Amino acid sequence: MFDDRQAHHGNLIGISSLSAGYPVETATLRVYMFIDYCSVNIYPVASEAGMILLKVNGATHQVDADPATPLLWVLRENLGLTGVKYGCGVAACGACTVHVNGEAVRSCTLPVASAAEAEIVTIEGLAASAGMSANALHPVQKAWIDVQVPQCGYCQSGMIMTTAALLKKTPKPTDADINAAITNLCRCGTYPRVRRAIRTLAEQV
Ligand code: FES
Ligand code: FES
Repeated sequence: MFDDRQAHHGNLIGISSLSAGYPVETATLRVYMFIDYCSVNIYPVASEAGMILLKVNGATHQVDADPATPLLWVLRENLGLTGVKYGCGVAACGACTVHVNGEAVRSCTLPVASAAEAEIVTIEGLAASAGMSANALHPVQKAWIDVQVPQCGYCQSGMIMTTAALLKKTPKPTDADINAAITNLCRCGTYPRVRRAIRTLAEQV
């Protein structure tokens, strides 16, 4: 299952072949991806602005944003939470995964208005959401270091957030549980180490 995704992911992340199979405005998406990789923050966040209440990592924010703006951009651009990554923009890769009321959610396709007043957690607040100090590492983050999961790291905050949500509900997941939950894509092919880290965490329960 993971192996199939590796080939698929080449089309998702390769800028020159980004349009393959995806009904999106590809020229725009290419530009957005290029800009994101260059860390230049010029995404259009609001066109018809309105104040929206967001609870993120335990703090309440009033953000001035178009209600239809994807939550991803509000987290990154309005709140500076750049641990949330943009990969595909079409809910296919999982790089943008955050927790919304405890569920792993792909924030690139969730209108910010739909998350108003929900409890949102990003990778920056993961440890605190588990009752740890803000500077501590969540057990999933520790396991990621122990197993040396990341390669380039771009997909990994999404992988960690998805894993944390899985293990909270299912502390000892089967392979089938892992396959069903971890549908995130990794162009570096870290899937075997992701699985090893999850198994390590399950053995500690
Ligand atoms: S950026 Fe790929 S799923 Fe959201
Ligand atoms: S994309 Fe590089 S570690 Fe996943």
